[in-house]
Amino acid sequence: MFENVISIKDFKREDIEFILREAEKMEPFASGEKSSSALRGKILGMMFYEPSTRTRLSFETAMKRLGGDVVGFADTGATSAVKGESLADTAMMLSAYSDAIVIRHNLEGAARYISDVVDVPVINAGDGAGQHPTQTLLDLYTMKRFFGRIGSLRVALVGDLKYGRTVHSLAYALAVFGASMSFVSPPVLRMPDNIIHDLRGAGVEVKETERLDDVIDEVDVLYVTRIQKERFPDPEEYSRIRGAYHIDGSTVADRDLIVMHPLPRIDEISPEVDSLPQAMYFRQAFYGVPVRMALLRLLISERGGSENQKIV
Ligand code: NCD
Repeated sequence: MFENVISIKDFKREDIEFILREAEKMEPFASGEKSSSALRGKILGMMFYEPSTRTRLSFETAMKRLGGDVVGFADTGATSAVKGESLADTAMMLSAYSDAIVIRHNLEGAARYISDVVDVPVINAGDGAGQHPTQTLLDLYTMKRFFGRIGSLRVALVGDLKYGRTVHSLAYALAVFGASMSFVSPPVLRMPDNIIHDLRGAGVEVKETERLDDVIDEVDVLYVTRIQKERFPDPEEYSRIRGAYHIDGSTVADRDLIVMHPLPRIDEISPEVDSLPQAMYFRQAFYGVPVRMALLRLLISERGGSENQKIV
């Protein structure tokens, strides 16, 4: 069905729906209630050039819950990258040691680039301010799981829409499902024009505003994001904008919506929201495991091997 997971734009609606159905079957295996050896003997190679908690750990958990194993690095300081080894050479080498590669890199296009160099499947775990397609799949899964549908949902994407890669991928995917979107950001952190142009070209109505109050009464999902400090060319600008949006108990009280966040949160959501029924972000982070299990099975076990193709 697909060989790599680089951009959500490479996926048709049917592909995404299929992955989400497979992910649902993975849930009891993801929670440890049932065990699986579907990827026994297989190795996932991890190349993380940028910090990560959830993405890396949920990929590792997903691979191990399927009976497979993981090699790689989460800190380039201990690799030959510091001696000047090229990205292509490091990827080539890791591909010789593993059955698929997960890469997170600060440069947009890095995952696509290595997918042209290696002959194992490549999964983009975030490329600069580009895309984060597996996060999008778990975001969609969370919405589907909670509402039973994605198509008619009204979703507000809030925060750093310029540098946030999760919202870039998510906006394209929501468009494919026909969900309606509003973009809430300070003017300097607007969704990039090329994405707005693509969405409008696909017939999607997009509302843009600086004020959360303009949309909060008309949404089913508040998808809140962190201001991406590390991508700001000017630290002064970051300090002017930080704290632009803040969700607390009174923002969501009595409102019929869910709050999602790819995490990490800095100061966008008060901890008091965590115990409210609207808070979905920790559940959402757990759903990274079944979604990534589904992807790994589809990418790795369908490529070869014989006796290991069944789920259990
Ligand atoms: C996001 C990322 O790295 O793009 N985190 C994640 O993968 N869950 C969001 C962020 O860093 O703000």
